[in-house]
Amino acid sequence: MDIQFVAEGEGEAVAVMASAGGTLLPAAKALDEKSGGALTKAMKTQRFTGAANQVLDILAPHGLPYERVLVIGVGDAERADGLAVERWGGHAVRRTLASGAERLVLLPDALPQVPIADAAARAAFGARLAAYRFDRYRTKLKPEAKPSLKEVLVALEGHAAARSRYEKNAHVADGVFFARDLVSEPPNILFPAEFAKRLKALESLGLKVTVLGEAELKEHGMGALLGVGQGSVRETQLVVMEWQGAKTKTARPLALVGKGVTFDTGGISLKPGAGMDEMKGDMGGAAAVCGAMMSVAMRKAKANVVGLVGLVENMPDGEAQRPGDIVTSMSGQTIEVLNTDAEGRLVLADVVWYAQEKFNPTAVVNLATLTGAIITALGHEHAGLFCNDDDLAGAITTAASAEGEPVWRLPLGAGYDKMIDTPNADMKNISGKPAAGSIVGAQFIKRFIKDGVAWAHLDIAGTAWKPGPFDDPLSPAWATGYGVRLLNRLVASRYED
Ligand code: BES
Ligand code: MN
Ligand code: ZN
Repeated sequence: MDIQFVAEGEGEAVAVMASAGGTLLPAAKALDEKSGGALTKAMKTQRFTGAANQVLDILAPHGLPYERVLVIGVGDAERADGLAVERWGGHAVRRTLASGAERLVLLPDALPQVPIADAAARAAFGARLAAYRFDRYRTKLKPEAKPSLKEVLVALEGHAAARSRYEKNAHVADGVFFARDLVSEPPNILFPAEFAKRLKALESLGLKVTVLGEAELKEHGMGALLGVGQGSVRETQLVVMEWQGAKTKTARPLALVGKGVTFDTGGISLKPGAGMDEMKGDMGGAAAVCGAMMSVAMRKAKANVVGLVGLVENMPDGEAQRPGDIVTSMSGQTIEVLNTDAEGRLVLADVVWYAQEKFNPTAVVNLATLTGAIITALGHEHAGLFCNDDDLAGAITTAASAEGEPVWRLPLGAGYDKMIDTPNADMKNISGKPAAGSIVGAQFIKRFIKDGVAWAHLDIAGTAWKPGPFDDPLSPAWATGYGVRLLNRLVASRYED
């Protein structure tokens, strides 16, 4: 699907804005007048109020050159922001993507908080995100279920300014799509080596990509990471993606670290069968990091950023690690593995340590689908944020809200840290108590963060993918790509020259 910015456009479908209280914005009002009040009439008969996410679908209105007019609510005009406009554009695409229409015209209007060039750019960005599908394995898709939409025309006066605004940010959508594809891929296709291969291909964007296999991981003493993969026939991999965009090439980077468990059976502490297929998405943290690295490279960010992902499959076989095993991490700290299903923290322990040893980063931000408990606490609305630095936490929270990928900060503390003490080793990988599960996971990772390093952990188990119905127009499928936008904005707002 192509997006164009034009002064005026023609198409089968058109989308216009309305705000709360049933107010038609100027482009909508013009269509209403031209059609002898068709929009006003339809609003009344369908109790359309202009609330956010409300869509009024008018077929073949008299006197207009469109087969379909979509009046889409942005809610309270005073409060509507760029995200509301993205959703507006998203709804328009969602309604028309496979409708048979080939061209959709978007007629954005300025809002009190959103000047017209921004409104047009954000509407286009929303349209692009909403057009995402993962159809790779659907060989028998009926023609009428296939996307028909070929072109979205964003029509406004001053379209050139809107286009340049859109283009500055359009690469972020590429990163989001990359992450969604990775999360959606089935686990027989996307195992660690295949994942690494797809990351190696990012070198064409100017990233330096290094892949470490099991022999090298062993040399580095990464017993925690290797233990997770020892029951799998797939080789564990650590992939490092370096972007040097800062003026000073040697400036300390920001390190982004992702949990990349390409499938989590639980290992010998086997998970129940129902819904286990969802654990193909247990590499959502790694996907977010990779999508963000892609975006950062494509838009040539003026910052030094390094992305590291631990790629591993957690399987139960004769070689698998057992509950009770004690492994030695790269940091030298020993871990009693009491539950092989608490494997994400074992992966991160070695990858965050390696990141600090090798790159001396100013900050480490890790993302992981770490705990089911974060879904109990926050549902699918917020990711959990754990952070040892208030400035970093503030920057992440602000970036997250601005991008519609919200986080909620949860506490850390000595009392929680104590819960992973064990007489048998330096620590154990679970507390064994049904309490504060997400915080305990965070405390575990924190034991591998060096003093003086700013660190944040995002538990994205509830946000990397979402169960249907999919009411977010910007994320039409199961995999959301959560984290890419947030990380990209964090880089832009806090780490660029
Ligand atoms: N990958 C899971 C967490 C998860 C659960 C992600 C649901 C997405 C949806 C993780 O490896 C795990 O199994 N965690 C355990 C930890 C427990 C054993 C302390 C959990 O949440 O039950
Ligand atoms: Mn697990
Ligand atoms: Zn897991």
